[in-house]
Amino acid sequence: MHKTRDSFGSKFGAIAALAGSAVGLGNIWKFPYEAGNNGGGAFLIIYIFFTLAIGLPIMLSEFALGRRGQQNAFGTFKTLAPGSKWYLFGLLSIIAAAFILSFYGTVSGWTLEYVWLAISGAFHHQTAEGIHDTFNTFISHPYKAVIWQVSFMVITGAIIVAGVKKGIERYTKMMMPVLFVIVILLGIRASTLPGAGEGLKFLFYPDFSKLTGQSVLSALGQAFFSLSLGMGVLLTYASYIRKTENLAHISLQVITTDTLVAILSGIAILPAVFSFGIDPQAGPGLVFLTLPQVFQSMPLGYFWAILFFILLTFAALTSAISLMEVVVAYLVEEKKMSRLKATITTTSGIGLLGIFCTLSFGPLQNIRFFGLSIFDTFDFVSSNILLPLGGILICIFAGWRLDKSILCDEISNEGRLKFKFFRLYAFILKYVAPICIFVILLNSMGILK
Ligand code: TRP
Repeated sequence: MHKTRDSFGSKFGAIAALAGSAVGLGNIWKFPYEAGNNGGGAFLIIYIFFTLAIGLPIMLSEFALGRRGQQNAFGTFKTLAPGSKWYLFGLLSIIAAAFILSFYGTVSGWTLEYVWLAISGAFHHQTAEGIHDTFNTFISHPYKAVIWQVSFMVITGAIIVAGVKKGIERYTKMMMPVLFVIVILLGIRASTLPGAGEGLKFLFYPDFSKLTGQSVLSALGQAFFSLSLGMGVLLTYASYIRKTENLAHISLQVITTDTLVAILSGIAILPAVFSFGIDPQAGPGLVFLTLPQVFQSMPLGYFWAILFFILLTFAALTSAISLMEVVVAYLVEEKKMSRLKATITTTSGIGLLGIFCTLSFGPLQNIRFFGLSIFDTFDFVSSNILLPLGGILICIFAGWRLDKSILCDEISNEGRLKFKFFRLYAFILKYVAPICIFVILLNSMGILK
């Protein structure tokens, strides 16, 4: 089994890949809008608290499990808990990753179309209505959105097939620094627009009166999605981290990058939205419906629009790669497929599932499950049920099932590193985190309001 397993060649490569997974559509459109809806600065404070207090320990546990297991998510649980049914959890996370990637591919396909629209100058001299029409016609088109979605999956597959070092690491190392520069440029541009102060106030002023129980839970859910927790993604990537790297440091770096990009996206998007008098609560449509409008009425907007949609595409791509790798690693290691065959199988399978998601904005919009479209069902089931469930199971496995000494060994690199916070970490993992997540899970299923 362990011939020579592919791995990340450098610390920077590992961080680029992991941060690439974490930084995604969740940071760029979801975060600014969630923060806006839930009390701005107050949401931000709670979000950061959850990220550090719950996200960090769970991320570190996924890293420890993955690097100890040296395998895909399924194999890792089989090895670490032999003779038990824990491998089913590994399997569940692989299926969940495939589900997330299916609907993620739909929105990622839109970002490709928007790069193209931006380059071809389609937003120039458009009215708000024109921009709405462009979006609605596009997403409900019988095949245009499908072509972009499938193209996106093929690009993802092309990077994956090249392997961990020569594919994932190589491309995330190129895309992540570019992404960082673009988001900083956009942030500077947006915060110097006339009237931008209101947007910044919206994001940073802590209005605790707007904070409800629901928004506290949204902050936790957002932290989970944004950090790519609980779906075997971090676990699989961690199996490629060298034994000499400090896992605690890496998790801190990934978390800092993810949070920084979320805040920078808020700075880039909200001031622009306010400066042009657009409703910040437009939600998912914000990026595609209102930003083209913002850009076209901005000096050099043509250029900013292209930059922005490239940013969005890179963010989506580096996250999609991480989701696809979970499935491919499983097929290669457990089903003994070649990497090429595994990638083709995964790309076609998820591409096909994704087509249903994409078409559910057009020809298939009448197919509903409990009132939700196919896209919304995929999103709901994976984000609101499978994700928190995955998080809880990680806590139970790492906190209760696994021998403490194994965790301690892995995090301290067999005792070579000092990890002063081990007791605090173990306490959060056993009690605080699972209870908090349990509450979110009940809430998102509507059992606890
Ligand atoms: N974290 C990514 C984002 O913010 C999405 C993502 C990638 C993800 N891998 C994941 C979400 C695994 C949940 C689980 O867009």
